[in-house]
Amino acid sequence: MMNVGVLASGTGSNFQALVQALAADDSAKVVALVCNVPSAAVLERAKELEVPAVVMDHRQWPSREAFDDALVHELKLRHVELVCLAGYMRLLTPRFLNQFPQGVINVHPALLPAFPGIRAVRQAIAAGVRVAGCTIHYVDEGADTGPIVAQAAVPVLPEDDEASLSARIQQQEHRLLPAVVKAIASGTVRLEGRSVHLKEWIG
Ligand code: GRF
Repeated sequence: MMNVGVLASGTGSNFQALVQALAADDSAKVVALVCNVPSAAVLERAKELEVPAVVMDHRQWPSREAFDDALVHELKLRHVELVCLAGYMRLLTPRFLNQFPQGVINVHPALLPAFPGIRAVRQAIAAGVRVAGCTIHYVDEGADTGPIVAQAAVPVLPEDDEASLSARIQQQEHRLLPAVVKAIASGTVRLEGRSVHLKEWIG
């Protein structure tokens, strides 16, 4: 059983989807949520789902490094082996990433390498693409630049706005993130340098 920790800053729909999908699975389990925004809705979800949650307001630490050290401490205390960023709105320091080699993944609401960074769905609409989607990727020191594990595509419909397209993309995220976590836990995914090798398709 792989212990999964989730870092989130916002609504937490991906957190919830992951917890619920893994509840019926014996390959991985969400053992902790760490949230850096004290008012974030994800904290309510953690309470309802009975997942131990820690609030760590980053503004209370003197530096990025000090904050990330404290994050590592919380996660190691709970024997976390895989860290999932699910709407976590901060970059992780190399210091954090070195503590979880090949052990951090992120959900991004675009088909990377297109539209990295914030407001990815708005960027996609502004660019006029006809296909959008989501990406689950390993995290490196950049913003949404790490090796890609899995992607799912959705159409961009003529009447779409940011909200309607986001909702369609999120449905895919809620399916794909648990699928990737299960695949990592069961040894289907191998990361070699910047190449991700899959024993089977994750979709
Ligand atoms: C998701 O769309 C994810 O792609 C992005 O942040 C959003 C988080 O949504 N990184 P939620 O908090 O899981 O509902």
